[in-house]
Amino acid sequence: MTSISQIRRLARQILDDTEVLTGHLEAQGIDAPSFNPDSVDVYSIPKDEPASKARKDLVASTKELRDLAMGPKENLQMLGWESFNILSLHFVTFYNIASFVPFEGEISYEDLCAKVNSHNNNNNNNNNKNSCPAPSPSSNSPSPSSPPPVRLSILRRNLRHAILNNIFRETRPGFVAHTRPSLLLATDTLMYSWSLYWTHYMWPVATNWAAALQRWPGSEDEKHTALAAWAGKEANLYDVLGRDAEMQRAFQAAVEATGTSEGYDIAFTVDGYPWDKLGEGTVVDLGGSQGQASVAIASSFPSLKFVVQDLPGARLPSTAGKIPSRLSSRVSLTAHDFFSPQPVSADAYLLRFVLHSFPDGAGVDVLRALIPSLENGARIIINDGVLPEAGARRDAAAEKATRSMDVAMWLVMNAGERDLGDWKNLLRMADERFVFSGAWRPEGATAWFIEAVWTTA
Ligand SMILES: C[S@@+](CC[C@H](N)C(=O)[O-])C[C@H]1O[C@@H](n2cnc3c(N)ncnc32)[C@H](O)[C@@H]1O
Repeated sequence: MTSISQIRRLARQILDDTEVLTGHLEAQGIDAPSFNPDSVDVYSIPKDEPASKARKDLVASTKELRDLAMGPKENLQMLGWESFNILSLHFVTFYNIASFVPFEGEISYEDLCAKVNSHNNNNNNNNNKNSCPAPSPSSNSPSPSSPPPVRLSILRRNLRHAILNNIFRETRPGFVAHTRPSLLLATDTLMYSWSLYWTHYMWPVATNWAAALQRWPGSEDEKHTALAAWAGKEANLYDVLGRDAEMQRAFQAAVEATGTSEGYDIAFTVDGYPWDKLGEGTVVDLGGSQGQASVAIASSFPSLKFVVQDLPGARLPSTAGKIPSRLSSRVSLTAHDFFSPQPVSADAYLLRFVLHSFPDGAGVDVLRALIPSLENGARIIINDGVLPEAGARRDAAAEKATRSMDVAMWLVMNAGERDLGDWKNLLRMADERFVFSGAWRPEGATAWFIEAVWTTA
């Protein structure tokens, strides 16, 4: 195919997919998301509808067409400037600018800057008088809870950059107003925390990758990472989070926000596994964070019980009230370190996005710690990323998400995503009695299910 016909083919494909998508929305009488502040945030299209696939294909093919329309040189140049997109989002998040812009109407840059500085000034003075927050132990960077004053020109230049990503709009020269994405940062605490975690913490961590290789050449130790280089001490992700309550809160909320994102939607965990075959069984949700997966599964499978385990410091202050009272007899939030022997004998053990953050040695330890409580037939249900065959490109969005996670796990734990062979090996290395019984990816999901059955007979 010539390069010209490739461009035409993509453009036709984009038109066809657009027709499928908009046709579905019109037939259902629903609007497409837009940048208007009162727009919906996501497309609510059932995952088995052709319009759902058309939308995903649109995202992939518009990127390919854009890259081709730019050409290789411009494309590379623009990639090198991608960091400024993160910078302006970091700026907006760090100063929580969205919360100072009126929900309706506009505000001048001057008034906005004055509001931001006066709020932070009051906050910092109050903090000084009462309980001055301890400086973040994990880095030398200032804390988002007590940001330094900012000059008008710096605020304006960063907002004008963010505006190019549809975060705020300039209604007339010198005045800004909300768009839907900026309003989300002001009103959706999970989305705010998501942005805070990835821009304020993970971005500076990422820029330390070369420093880490220089400091610990060739090391596979989980404490010799970009994160450790950034923190200035040998520590793994959970050591750093354990010492920095602000970062821990951002991390846990970002984890929870992940479960509301396209390929990571908790609905895939609920619908993608035959939970009913466990009957009235008990499921232990290891590293289950705030219990989001257990709550979702318990809501659909009323005979199952869940014991959610996580480190004591991992629970958000808001978590207690999050288990709806109708589920409180079936879902319990408990503290347990999964490297210690498992105290609960259950029908199944769920490890959702847990093992990908540990190298094989630690992964083996987590699995072996289950053994004391395992009975013949107990199921190990791993819901995690599986690296696709390189270049297979079956689902570009899922591959990008998994490969991004793979890089992130290297940065914070010297770990990474596994391919299917690696998962089977991990189970075998832990104990031959973890018998692999199947692996599948629900259509549209980023994560797979990898199942093993503890077999002693
Ligand atoms: C990436 S999160 C996944 C959370 C949850 N399973 C989900 O799918 O949303 C990993 C979780 O493992 C927890 N964790 C890490 N080390 C742990 C340990 N030693 N014992 C128990 N939980 C741990 C973390 O606190 C975190 O909540």
